[in-house]
Amino acid sequence: MGNRLSGKVAVVTGGNRGIGRAIAERLADEEAMVAVGDLLGGPSPSLSSVERLTFKSLDVTKEASVREFIDEVLQQFGSIDVLVNNAGIILHKSIDEQTVEDWDRLMAVNLRGPFLMAKYVAPEMRRAGSGTIVNIGSVEGFMVNPWHTAYAAAKAGVHGLTLGLAVDLGPDGVRCNTVCPGWIETDLNRAYVELHPDRSLVERELAQVHPVGRIGSPNEIANAVLWLASDESSFVSGEMIAVDGARTKKISLPSILDEEYRASLQRLSTRSKPAL
Ligand SMILES: NC(=O)c1ccc[n+]([C@@H]2O[C@H](COP(=O)([O-])OP(=O)(O)OC[C@H]3O[C@@H](n4cnc5c(N)ncnc54)[C@H](O)[C@@H]3O)[C@@H](O)[C@H]2O)c1
Repeated sequence: MGNRLSGKVAVVTGGNRGIGRAIAERLADEEAMVAVGDLLGGPSPSLSSVERLTFKSLDVTKEASVREFIDEVLQQFGSIDVLVNNAGIILHKSIDEQTVEDWDRLMAVNLRGPFLMAKYVAPEMRRAGSGTIVNIGSVEGFMVNPWHTAYAAAKAGVHGLTLGLAVDLGPDGVRCNTVCPGWIETDLNRAYVELHPDRSLVERELAQVHPVGRIGSPNEIANAVLWLASDESSFVSGEMIAVDGARTKKISLPSILDEEYRASLQRLSTRSKPAL
């Protein structure tokens, strides 16, 4: 596609599927050598065909695994210029149902993971005098869905980590930013929608809560990550960038008023269409 990351080495955690997979492929399309680290190990079939992607097993919660993974990547490629902390899990439970083990597991993957990865990549970036770290946070670091206390707390933590890394590593030439996805169509979300008896109603209503009129795709997150990973964003650091079709910018209305608003939008758009 292009050569915006030519000569760069990128690491993407949790890159075997979903958003991470789209990110890994997008960075490779721009000529980066990409090392994907994932719990699942080995490449999924469609990825193995892409020449610039290498797959290694990694558990971001374990310090020894992170250290071994980083050492292997450095041995194979000689540097790490871009780190994308994407691996993450979700927990959908009320505070009463949530166990201490649930909380600790989620924090270990979603918050300790990005910290450990940054800790072991930072010396290499500092040595090179440059580098970019892109975390995948969430709009749930700013707002929250019911029963997502642990997830929201961890994502807000990732946003805080971003500020800290941007300040602490800035003098070494290292930038750190976070992309905060809204509702993105992944296998996980698709399965969640399919659980509902009236799937098309859920899809319609999901589209309606987005001012742009639709949910997002993994590629749209990957494009934002690419921009933050590349020199095109060279003066951007410490930012949380929502990629959510303005969902978090619209103040929720009582549904009766929202229906009236949408009905008037519909009338306006019909009126502005040229007669055939
Ligand atoms: N899908 C969305 O709508 C959405 C919205 C906001 C934020 N996010 C965030 O985007 C990121 C990716 O989400 P997704 O929807 O693609 O999820 P996904 O479940 O499809 O993919 C997550 C990947 O992370 C890997 N992983 C899990 N634990 C790991 C560990 N301990 N070590 C290494 N890898 C591990 C999994 O094996 C999997 O390949 C997550 O951080 C998630 O919180 C997703």
